[in-house]
Amino acid sequence: EKTHYHDFVIQATPVKRLCNTRNTITVNGQFPGPTLEVNNGDTLVVNVVNRAQYNVTIHWHGVRQIRTGWADGPEFITQCPIRPGKSYTYRFTMQGQEGTLWWHAHSSWLRATVYGALIIHPKAGESYPFPTPKRETPVLLGEWWNANPIDVVRQATRTGAAPNVSDAYTINGQPGDLYKCSSQDITIIHVDSGETNLLRVVNAGLNQQLFFTVANHKLTVVGADANYVKPFTTSVLMLGPGQTTDVLIKADQPAARYYMAARAYSSAQGAPFDNTTTTAILEYQTSCSSNCAKTNPVFPSLPAYNDTATATAFTTKFRSPRKAQVPTEIDENLFVTVGLGLENCPSGASSSSCQGPNGTRFAASMNNVSFVLPSNFSLLQAHHQGIHGVFSTDFPANPPVKFDYTGNVSRSLWQPIRGTKLYKLTYGARVQVVLQGTGIFTAENHPIHLHGYDFYIIAEGFGNFNPKSDTAKFNLVDPPLRNTASVPVNGWTVIRFVADNPGVWLMHCHLDVHITWGLAMAFLVENGVSELESLEAPPEDFPVC
Ligand code: C2O
Repeated sequence: EKTHYHDFVIQATPVKRLCNTRNTITVNGQFPGPTLEVNNGDTLVVNVVNRAQYNVTIHWHGVRQIRTGWADGPEFITQCPIRPGKSYTYRFTMQGQEGTLWWHAHSSWLRATVYGALIIHPKAGESYPFPTPKRETPVLLGEWWNANPIDVVRQATRTGAAPNVSDAYTINGQPGDLYKCSSQDITIIHVDSGETNLLRVVNAGLNQQLFFTVANHKLTVVGADANYVKPFTTSVLMLGPGQTTDVLIKADQPAARYYMAARAYSSAQGAPFDNTTTTAILEYQTSCSSNCAKTNPVFPSLPAYNDTATATAFTTKFRSPRKAQVPTEIDENLFVTVGLGLENCPSGASSSSCQGPNGTRFAASMNNVSFVLPSNFSLLQAHHQGIHGVFSTDFPANPPVKFDYTGNVSRSLWQPIRGTKLYKLTYGARVQVVLQGTGIFTAENHPIHLHGYDFYIIAEGFGNFNPKSDTAKFNLVDPPLRNTASVPVNGWTVIRFVADNPGVWLMHCHLDVHITWGLAMAFLVENGVSELESLEAPPEDFPVC
């Protein structure tokens, strides 16, 4: 078991995309940022030095952070931001997880350009539960704005309107040859005829769920969110922001060049979205000399942007490779609505700050609470030191009013209130959360991410969750273990986990625009009895506000 040391210097770097150069916040001048590779059981020590003009934090998306919540990273949840000119060292150990995770900034919209892959190989001397691939390649799907993403979100917050959609999608930072000024720099991924490669696909995009496919090739899914899954074959993936999917791809086609491509899965009716397509090239290396490198790549077919049937058929195929340790009894049963809404304009507010539909402001909520970040303490520090007045623990276990969540409901039923409300769990509690999508303003698919845990996804469906009949659909045998779950448009998803990691853990929609509007809550998990069931002390350089 090794310890890996890295320096991450957060800095503004000129990056040229779509014919324009803009100063972009990067790690070590790289976009996307460095790929970190470790073995299961290793420790990572990353010294983050902030030389940019913005506050920053780094989140290790999907890392369990058992007892090390101080290293989790979400701004004002587990730490105060690293101010310009300051630094903080994240230190944590990989415990049991294998596959692909990623890291990203967790402050405002900085993660648009501050992200990279985190690859966890099996323990030294152990192998994958599938034949060892010839090569392994991270495939990071992202979103690019011509404007500074921080300005885009600031403008939306100021006006109350929806932010501009992105100008391009990217694969490993490059838009690809369907965009102007981009064909020279398209990402090329090499394969050798007859060999099998592992693609580690990550949706690092901010606001868009994406379909991904490779022309003429089958993809065998073997993992997701750093958990192995029972292998299955598909021609198209759908990933919400935050999700990862590991696929084997066999180079069993005539030596040539084939496109891989990604474009939006947009389930929200009538809402604007970036309707462009990003491409990269899969190139057969051996026997594909300069000749075939000049032939036009084969283009794949992608599902229509609103193809919910294909998206759902994919997300429901995941199974654990063996019998899962899903809790069969539960101690805490939460029913949590997730969705968008609109806030009335506060009296006296200028109309320029109320440019949402009909003079409102966009807001989003869980159980009608629109989450507000504290500003003078992080929640974890306030909890650890017993500082009062930073948060309350009255997040409701059920919606304040019951109605037809997926019907055409009047928004007068559902005026979100603002608050920093946590839900308290005793150590070891067995927790079930029914995540129910709502259609107050518009219904859409939400990728819900829980920090500090992997959870079992035991069922999903459309319409209103029915506690009498839908429990028959629960898979308590081999449900998949993940850290980000799709809640289908006008539907629901049920997750279970055991609260065995003390700390404060954010649960939120991983569409950044929705977290901006408050689609979040947090669990406060108390210490257990022994030291090994308790949060460690904070590191000495821990940033306070
Ligand atoms: Cu990947 Cu709270 O985020």
